[in-house]
Amino acid sequence: MKFKLVIAAACMASSMSLLAQEVTYRNQVKPMIQKLCAECHGDGAPTLAEFKLAEEKYKKEKLGPNTSTYENLLQIIAYTDTGAFMRRLDDGTNTADKKPGNMYKYLGETEQNLAHAFRDAEQDNAVLLIDEVDSFLQNRESATRSWEVSQVNELLQQMERFDGIFICATNLFDQIDAAALRRFAFKIAFKALLPEQRIKLFVQEALDGIEGELNTTMRNRLLRLDNLAPGDFAVVKRQAMLLGEVLPPSDFLAELESECRLKPGVNKQAMGFLH
Ligand code: HEC
Repeated sequence: MKFKLVIAAACMASSMSLLAQEVTYRNQVKPMIQKLCAECHGDGAPTLAEFKLAEEKYKKEKLGPNTSTYENLLQIIAYTDTGAFMRRLDDGTNTADKKPGNMYKYLGETEQNLAHAFRDAEQDNAVLLIDEVDSFLQNRESATRSWEVSQVNELLQQMERFDGIFICATNLFDQIDAAALRRFAFKIAFKALLPEQRIKLFVQEALDGIEGELNTTMRNRLLRLDNLAPGDFAVVKRQAMLLGEVLPPSDFLAELESECRLKPGVNKQAMGFLH
C-alpha cells in the first residue's frame, strides 16, 4: 500500500519517464512534497494528532498535517488511507465526480490553465484579457508561498512567448510584480471622471438625456464627487434593476454619493495595461 502511494504521487507530479526509473521516497517523493506541500504541511505544521484535535483552527490557518518526514507522511497514509491521499492529488481523471482533488492545484493546475489560455488565444488569433490579474501577478518579494511565485513565473514566461495582444486589469496596481510591469508596453490608468464628464453621464443615465432637468443643487453635488467613475453608474443602474425600480434623479445621485464614500484611497484606482 505504501509503495502504491509513492509511485502514484511521483507520477502525478513529474513526467511519465519516471515510471522507467526506480522511485524512492528520498529521491522523488520527498523533494516533491517539499516543493509543493511544505508550506502548509511542513515543519511549522501540526502533527496528525494535533491536527485532528483542532481541525477547523488549522484549516483556517491553511495548515494541514505535517508531512515533512517519512514517519509523519506514513501516519497520514495509514490514518486516512492511500485512497484519500490520492483523491486529493487527482486531476479529476480518477474521481467519481470528475472534479480535481483539493490538493491538485498545488501540482500546477493554475500554471496549466494559464498555458492553455495563451495557447487557445494564439490559435484563435484572439485578444487575451485577464481581469483581476493581481491574483496571478502579485509581487514576488511579498509572496510567501512557492506556488505564488511559480504562478508569476509561468505567466511571465507565457507572455514572453505569446504572439498576440494581451491585456490585464487590476484595482491593486501597487501589488503587481515590478518585473512583470516592465513587460507591459502600455500601462493605462482609468482615472475618475472629470467634472464635465460626471455631469454629462448623469444627464444621460439619470435624466434621460434632458440637460434642462439638472438643477443647481444636483450640479453642485456632482461637482463634489471627485472619485466618481463610470463603474459607479453601472452599480447604481444594477441596483435599480434588481429592485425593479426607476430611481428618481435625487435618489440616483444619493446612491452615487454613497458608492463614492465607500471607496478606498485615491491611489487604489483601477488600472489597465497592455502587452
Ligand atoms: C496552501 C496550503 C496547502 C498546500 C500547499 C497543500 N495542502 Fe494539503 N492540506 C491543507 C489543509 C489546510 C488541509 C486540511 C484541510 C483539508 O482537509 O482540506 C490539508 C489536508 C491534506 C490531506 C488530508 C489530511 C487528513 O488526514 O485530513 C492530505 C492527504 C493532503 N493535504 C495532502 C497534500 C499534498 C500531498 C500536498 C502537496 C502536493 C498538499 N496537501 C499541499 C493545505 C495545503
